[in-house]
Amino acid sequence: MGVFAGTTAAACVTSSLALTPTTPFSSNKRTTITTSSSKCRIRATHHQNLTAFPSTSHLFYAKSLRTTKPRIFLPHLIASLVDQTYIMVKPDGVQRGVVGDIISRFEKKGFKLTGLKLYQCSKDLAEEHYKDLKLKSFFPKLIDYITSGPVVCMAWEGVGVVASARKLIGATDPLQAEPGTIRGDLAVQTGRNIVHGSDSPENGKREIALWFKEGELCEWTPVLTPWLRE
Ligand code: RTP
Ligand code: MG
Repeated sequence: MGVFAGTTAAACVTSSLALTPTTPFSSNKRTTITTSSSKCRIRATHHQNLTAFPSTSHLFYAKSLRTTKPRIFLPHLIASLVDQTYIMVKPDGVQRGVVGDIISRFEKKGFKLTGLKLYQCSKDLAEEHYKDLKLKSFFPKLIDYITSGPVVCMAWEGVGVVASARKLIGATDPLQAEPGTIRGDLAVQTGRNIVHGSDSPENGKREIALWFKEGELCEWTPVLTPWLRE
């Protein structure tokens, strides 16, 4: 049995992360606990028959309800560090048939896909997305490029996902991008660099809100979570 007593404000971030795997192999009972210190409500899930872990796994349970010392439940702390990033396969990436390769790199790294669609964007949307570059001489060409065909819009989630995605993507100029990165492996020119990634957590949120409508994003818990995080 058991669960957690005591928490921090950070641990109160609402998330189902790692707590609610819903697999055909598990059955869940929920318990609501109110901590006196923070007045945060936290839902705990009692996992039964989760194949990868015995029911006493430390990933899901603090040691004992009788423990007097307040305990911190690690997945909640991790949840407070989770960022979102907007990744977009640009029209050249779609035309060249590398969408699957690009998605696969983020999947294999261990990030969580929460939104995905093929989309022909308008000039207005492209201009709003790249509004920080409005005064650059290449701006009109950039807008023509982004609106020249369908793009693949993606929302990805994970700890450190914004910075990590930028590393996976590589330098803006594909000739400067390291081999092993998406641009380093798959592109040769800045004006055809096949993929976009948000440059900050704030822009990640802004861009996801810009490209996805309410209801297009999906909150889910990958069953692999315990194999990706201690
Ligand atoms: P992105 O926003 O698309 O992920 O690219 P980035 O952060 O690596 O580079 P950024 O400076 O934000 O530029 C946005 C996109 O504009 C095009 N660009 N062309 N001709 C040029 O000098 C030039 N510089 C940038 C690229 O498509 C770049 O990805
Ligand atoms: Mg940028």
